[in-house]
Amino acid sequence: MAEKVIINYKGKEYDLPIITGSEDEKAIDISSLRKDTGLVTLDRGFKNTGSVTSNITFLNGEEGILRYRGYPIEDLAEKSTFLEVSYLLIYGNLPNEIELSKFTNDISSHTLVHEDVKSILDGFPSKSHPMGVLSSLVSSLTAFYPKSLDPNRSKEEINGTIIRALAKLPTLAAWSYKNRMRQPVVYPDNSLNYCENFIRMMFSLPTVGYEVNPVVAKALDKLLILHADHEQNCSTSTVRMVGSSHASLYTSVSSGIAALWGPLHGGANQAVIEMLENIRESGGDIGIFIDKAKDKNDPFRLMGFGHRVYKSFDPRATIIKKAADDVLSQLGINDPVLEIAMKLEKVALNDDYFISRGLYPNVDFYSGIIYRAIGVPKDMFTVMFALGRLPGWISQWKEMRENHDPIGRPRQIYTGPTLRTYTDINNR
Ligand code: SDX
Repeated sequence: MAEKVIINYKGKEYDLPIITGSEDEKAIDISSLRKDTGLVTLDRGFKNTGSVTSNITFLNGEEGILRYRGYPIEDLAEKSTFLEVSYLLIYGNLPNEIELSKFTNDISSHTLVHEDVKSILDGFPSKSHPMGVLSSLVSSLTAFYPKSLDPNRSKEEINGTIIRALAKLPTLAAWSYKNRMRQPVVYPDNSLNYCENFIRMMFSLPTVGYEVNPVVAKALDKLLILHADHEQNCSTSTVRMVGSSHASLYTSVSSGIAALWGPLHGGANQAVIEMLENIRESGGDIGIFIDKAKDKNDPFRLMGFGHRVYKSFDPRATIIKKAADDVLSQLGINDPVLEIAMKLEKVALNDDYFISRGLYPNVDFYSGIIYRAIGVPKDMFTVMFALGRLPGWISQWKEMRENHDPIGRPRQIYTGPTLRTYTDINNR
């Protein structure tokens, strides 16, 4: 017997079906609600509202579970690589050796961007935040690849756009950093792997030889895996919403970068480090900041804490915390900010305010400590998040297109002035 809920409105009963996902999640399907009852639902921030059915990522916020296409994040972070995980997210299964080699080679052969990108880059002042530069450069790809504007082209052409997006984002991201530093851009070296290539484009200078540290490349690869997808978060929902109007993949990803930039979302990794540095510079008294975070009249929040879905631990934070320890000891770095972070976590997780609200460290709490250790400047932290999230955005955009999802257009409840008569300016 199909499950349903019955609502009783103005003395009439209406059946609404319950749908059940593969992990036994349940939702009331309200697609007939307005037609049958004239009612819409209201749910600010969509805290209780599902927007899609999806086969890509499963989260269980109560049990701290995260799986990409059914594979636990712990296994992928330990045993896989970012390109293999990107393939898994985008095409639905882990690649065999031939598939992975073709995918890797296809990406390698598209890492260069058009020389005219440098003229666009030169138009940005050196103080430009790299996220704003990156969002613009990604959108500019539609100018160099005008066929990508049509998302209804053949599967092969769409796949070409996907490969170019994966191949060129590291180059554009590194060039956004070089613009910030007012240093000459570094061209990709396709003899290197994905992360080595990016690190070299970021940090090498034409005047000196540059060797990528394998510890740094491996740490980055793990971080990118951990950021690769996270179901319908703010930036992914933005990518789907923009893509639902049949805008191109590049435009949709550019919008996702813009959404990710916010400090409540991907921008939190930069805000965490600024908060930890602030605690250190003000004498390291954690209690003051804990009290501020709890004070309703104080806009300060404990950055890197809390999550819309995880009301227990964020599995990614657990993995990143251990990786931060490993990377710092392998690089021989003793970062006082890591000690402050661990102390802050301990104090908060013994405080009822945080426990009662299910506020635990999220993916952004420790990631910045690794980025710092591998030499990434603070305002590039969210760019690293975007690099990691790209295959997730692509896979969700692709799924939305393949499912022929309708254009996203939520309803509202109007609470403004009722009918008024226009009056001449002299009579106001
Ligand atoms: C990411 O959605 C995703 O999947 C995102 C992400 C991904 O991979 O895409 O996981 C990446 O964005 C991680 C989150 C990074 N942001 C931060 O670390 C910023 C700090 N955290 C928050 O502002 C907050 O926790 C959110 C935005 C993450 C979640 O906010 P919600 O779900 O809207 O919760 P809320 O704001 O309604 O807070 C519920 C309560 C409130 O107190 P009460 O009104 O019940 O008294 O918890 C309090 C909040 O004041 N609260 C915090 C807090 N976060 C929530 N209090 C102090 N410090 C915090 N960080």
